[in-house]
Amino acid sequence: MPADTENSRLDAQIAASARVRRISAARARPFAARVRTFGCQQNEADSERLRGMLAEMGCSFTESDAEADIIIINTCAVREHAEAKVFGVIGALTHQKKAKPDMIIAVCGCAAQRPEFAERLRVTYGHVDLVFGTHALWRFPELLETALGGARRVFNTEPSDGEIIEGLPTLRDRKYTAWLPVMYGCDNFCAYCIVPYVRGRERSRRAENILKDARELIASGARDITLLGQNVNSYGNKSPNEPRFPQLLRDVAALDGDFLLRFMTSHPKDAGEALFRAMANSPKIAKCLHLPFQSGSDRVLGLMNRGYTRSRYLELIAAARELMPELVITSDVIVGFPGETEADFEETYSLIESVRFDSLFTFIHSPRAGAPSASLPDPVPRAEKQRRFERMTALQDEISAERHRAYIGKTLRVLITSESGDAAYPAQGRTDGNRLVRIAGVAAVGEFCDIKITGCNKWSLMGEIAV
Ligand code: SAM
Ligand code: SF4
Ligand code: F3S
Repeated sequence: MPADTENSRLDAQIAASARVRRISAARARPFAARVRTFGCQQNEADSERLRGMLAEMGCSFTESDAEADIIIINTCAVREHAEAKVFGVIGALTHQKKAKPDMIIAVCGCAAQRPEFAERLRVTYGHVDLVFGTHALWRFPELLETALGGARRVFNTEPSDGEIIEGLPTLRDRKYTAWLPVMYGCDNFCAYCIVPYVRGRERSRRAENILKDARELIASGARDITLLGQNVNSYGNKSPNEPRFPQLLRDVAALDGDFLLRFMTSHPKDAGEALFRAMANSPKIAKCLHLPFQSGSDRVLGLMNRGYTRSRYLELIAAARELMPELVITSDVIVGFPGETEADFEETYSLIESVRFDSLFTFIHSPRAGAPSASLPDPVPRAEKQRRFERMTALQDEISAERHRAYIGKTLRVLITSESGDAAYPAQGRTDGNRLVRIAGVAAVGEFCDIKITGCNKWSLMGEIAV
């Protein structure tokens, strides 16, 4: 969509935003808003846009439900537990709404985009005033204005393939670290996953817009920038005029300024040597790769529709490590996919043993209505899945501890992200590999510092400023 058309589509939103701003200014106290975010970095990036729109509408912000005039719950649908948690939060707001009937409770994001979830809100959660899905995020000012009118509950959850709306205001809540979406949606349709149904088709932003945002982030003090997409390796695949992802990485890394560049998530079917070379050749690109493998069994990978084999995955890891011996590798894995046998699980277990990830995000398969795996026969009892899950996490805990211990005595470059309340370790930061480091000494927040690692526990490294 040409940029001028994109902007003209925002005209109605800008006008609605100005009207809400006037309503807010006419009150004894402007609207106080609270945005609560569940789910992944994509949702966090969306919440920064919601906050940006709220700020333009003249709202202040609060972290207290009791003080809030507008509460927005940005939801995740990836596992049943994520949705259950959100229903708990919404249910708990019933009393708040009774005490303050004029307040607006809004529910948005991935779960709100699911018809089953939206219907349950419509029928059972009458105190929710506004429900909008991922595709309607940019219409938030208009939707909020209607909800404030109070005549009716507002639902906007129509399915859509998705589009890109540039130019939305953004209010970041962290100064030194930043999310930078490069693409939206997903076309991979992994058999277990709801994301393609709630986020629409894969679409890439123009490189010029990404570079413009990156320049602004760097100028505003961001030192750790993460390029975001469900599968960043397919960036630009549908846009002949845009660079491929390794080139985009090089272009962003070539911008002036002292910053570190990360990206997530990479999909093994599209990752390869061009990506690893771009990483290896730029000191500004973090030597850190999140490469979800999901299962170590070729049979299960086939059922999951992942598009690679165990041996291909291991080849990728070997190629990446050959170019970057110190590379930090993290991953996602699902146990208990429908029909996973003990032998399939052993293949997953042995893959973890052989790759020795720095850390691993481990999940038990959660059936999602609409995703194909929800209708596959699933004979393995829950208790057995739990047993496999615990064996796997125990193995990874050992590996993570071993990896942490290996840092002791080394000096690492760390971005100091905040002060801590802990007198023994007054500052903390993140390494290139995204490990949390607690620092015994005073260090300037927002600066990169060389830190000598002196100790570790399961969750973090401890260190002191290197002399
Ligand atoms: N796009 C990324 C990719 O393909 O690796 C990940 C997206 S998803 C938001 C994050 C992780 O959630 C996935 O890598 C997968 O391990 C897990 N996940 C997704 N659907 C799931 C389900 N139905 N049950 C359990 N875990 C699931
Ligand atoms: Fe889900 Fe697969 Fe897309 Fe990742 S690549 S968001 S797991 S469908
Ligand atoms: Fe992310 Fe959850 Fe949506 S993981 S893309 S917020 S379903």
